[in-house]
Amino acid sequence: MILITGAGGKTGQAIIRALVARGATVRALAHRPDQTQALQALGAQVVIGDMRDRVTMEQAAHGAQAIYHICSNMHPDEVAIGEAAMDAARAAQVERLVYHSVLHPQTEAMPHHWRKLRVEEKLFESGLAYTILQPAAYMQNVLAYWNPIVEQGVYPVPYAVEARLSLVDLEDVAEAAALVLTEPGHTGATYELAGPEALSQVEVAAILSRQLGHRVQAQAIPLDEWERKARASGMNDYAVETLLRMFRYYDGFGLCGNPNSLNWLLRRPATTFATFVARIPSA
Ligand SMILES: NC(=O)c1ccc[n+]([C@@H]2O[C@H](COP(=O)([O-])OP(=O)(O)OC[C@H]3O[C@@H](n4cnc5c(N)ncnc54)[C@H](OP(=O)(O)O)[C@@H]3O)[C@@H](O)[C@H]2O)c1
Repeated sequence: MILITGAGGKTGQAIIRALVARGATVRALAHRPDQTQALQALGAQVVIGDMRDRVTMEQAAHGAQAIYHICSNMHPDEVAIGEAAMDAARAAQVERLVYHSVLHPQTEAMPHHWRKLRVEEKLFESGLAYTILQPAAYMQNVLAYWNPIVEQGVYPVPYAVEARLSLVDLEDVAEAAALVLTEPGHTGATYELAGPEALSQVEVAAILSRQLGHRVQAQAIPLDEWERKARASGMNDYAVETLLRMFRYYDGFGLCGNPNSLNWLLRRPATTFATFVARIPSA
């Protein structure tokens, strides 16, 4: 049995699907009881609890051969939660712990990246058999803007439209995660999982235009406008401030990696953004 923590989000669900497709038995640790049905429908056993609680983590890990640890997005306690996952892995004597990190965790200017680097460092010192995956930003993030893209032909981003990102398909990330969890030979490895193209947002919009058959234009939205909307939607202070720092970083430097390790893990070329868009039902 493989335990997936932080399993209720889009990452957890994609990895459950990929593991179940490979015939693995999966236990999902989710946050809210209302996530149970959806996770069971994917074929997972479900445990409800808070990852910050060490007893919950240890109980969830009991009997697991492996743990795939996902901390929820923008969590100020990511380091402590990572340590709880390592303690649970030790208590359950799992064969491997795979950590869902991020591309370029070394970037101190982005606190959520920097915290993941600290977790990676603790893994090196943990004595556990670990693997680290470092995904780039997901192609699926574009879906958050699907309505303006389809209805107004506008792809709004809170950073420069020239900023380049090596967007990766979450389905590729999930397949890579399932492979390292079920194949031997990945202990001690750190794999960067970047998509095949470092696209500017103008290029992303051009691909959307071609696939959708109407003009889509990338548009930089001012950070103060983004912040006003985020706060009005109830986003907490830590998440707003962390995302603002991420957008400023993207604005200056983008976030680009190399697809070689992902191609190698998948034994095929990583999915292009055009192929990803063609898969969206309404496209
Ligand atoms: N999105 C990207 O492009 C990207 C790229 C690379 C890496 N990542 C990393 O991938 C990870 C997962 O991202 P995601 O977007 O899938 O995250 P997510 O949607 O935030 O999902 C995480 C899940 O964890 C749950 N959760 C929150 N606090 C919890 C707690 N204390 N105990 C148990 N569960 C808890 C959340 O439940 P609630 O719904 O109740 O909050 C949510 O269901 C993050 O660490 C992120 O940094 C993301």
